[in-house]
Amino acid sequence: MLQVRLSGDIWFMGFNDRRTHLFENIWPIPHGISYNSYLIIDEKIALIDTVERQFIDDYLDHIASLIGDRQVDYLVINHMEPDHSGALKALITKYPGVTLVGNKKTFQLVESYYLKPEKVVEVYDDDTLELGRNKLQFRTIPMVHWPETMVSYEVNSGILFAGDAFGSYGTLDGGIFDDEINLDFYEVEVMRYFTNIVGKYCAHTQRAIKKLADLEIRMIAATHGPVWRTDLNWVLSRYNKWSSYDMENGVVIVYGSMYGNTQKMAEVVARRLAERGIKNIRVYDASKTHASYIINDIFKYRGFIVGSCAYNNAIFPNVGTLLTTIEHMGVKNHLLGIFGNYSWNGGGVKSLAEFAEKMKWEQVYAPVEEKGALKVDTREELLRLADAMADKLASN
Ligand code: FEO
Repeated sequence: MLQVRLSGDIWFMGFNDRRTHLFENIWPIPHGISYNSYLIIDEKIALIDTVERQFIDDYLDHIASLIGDRQVDYLVINHMEPDHSGALKALITKYPGVTLVGNKKTFQLVESYYLKPEKVVEVYDDDTLELGRNKLQFRTIPMVHWPETMVSYEVNSGILFAGDAFGSYGTLDGGIFDDEINLDFYEVEVMRYFTNIVGKYCAHTQRAIKKLADLEIRMIAATHGPVWRTDLNWVLSRYNKWSSYDMENGVVIVYGSMYGNTQKMAEVVARRLAERGIKNIRVYDASKTHASYIINDIFKYRGFIVGSCAYNNAIFPNVGTLLTTIEHMGVKNHLLGIFGNYSWNGGGVKSLAEFAEKMKWEQVYAPVEEKGALKVDTREELLRLADAMADKLASN
């Protein structure tokens, strides 16, 4: 538990989860994650979001250690996903006078997940809540990351309580502010949080960035990861770049291979791309690297070349999982190449072609397919595929 004062009346309460292996039971979090809640102690006492349910007891104890016998007057719900609403029922049980602050969609979710709340304040864009010295102003940012999601802005301190937006995987290992930590560690984890959780909603993220542009934000307090108070542009510029598909020239090559033949095809393509001067080339074995990491590089680089062996006359399952993830996220604006290998009747390349059709990305060259070991003619075709990708990237 980290309990740190952000400004006069405003406290950060963060809980490090070092035990969970998969966030949302999908995404690996080898470096853990923090759940951040915020407490404003003024003439009125307000909490902003709660924490994941495994921390309920500690959470309630820490609130009590800060407010003593006083009651919590408001619980502001920026986001209802259970990693932030997990302590909601326990909080209402302990502080039955608490009023929930949210929007229409928030309360529909409160009711479907937990209970019908008795005391609520329904807010709309730019409504405010006076706490005494502090005043919260609200704005919805739908789909960053759920339909009800909103932010709360404390007008005097300039603190933006941002929910999932600008959050990160990775625990807070002592330092909580951006100037207290080495941001190199969070480079991958901030991006993975964005691509894995928010990446499907790039257009909504762009709208949110524009909607918040007029606020004089001096600190960004997200529900996961560091609090940004010194170099806000570090995280703001990255969110803007990623959510606008502002990609670099580079190629991600992903393959699924049982006996090594499809891998050899990937190596040929990678080498040719390097010979053509492309420095950003990342080659992944879909069976070894989780989609959570590969998707980061797919958001970084415009080129994507995917290869699959045939597995029982179908796509190699681990390649299929990655493609389903890409399709689910609705990733846009890529250049695509496909290749594959088979032993009897094929199936891998056929499925890749169906993926190409669905995604409507520009396919830079015809599919290249080999039967068994790589032969000279097919190798030449792979070189042409790599050349076509290099040419397209150069013309972009
Ligand atoms: Fe951290 Fe969308 O919950």
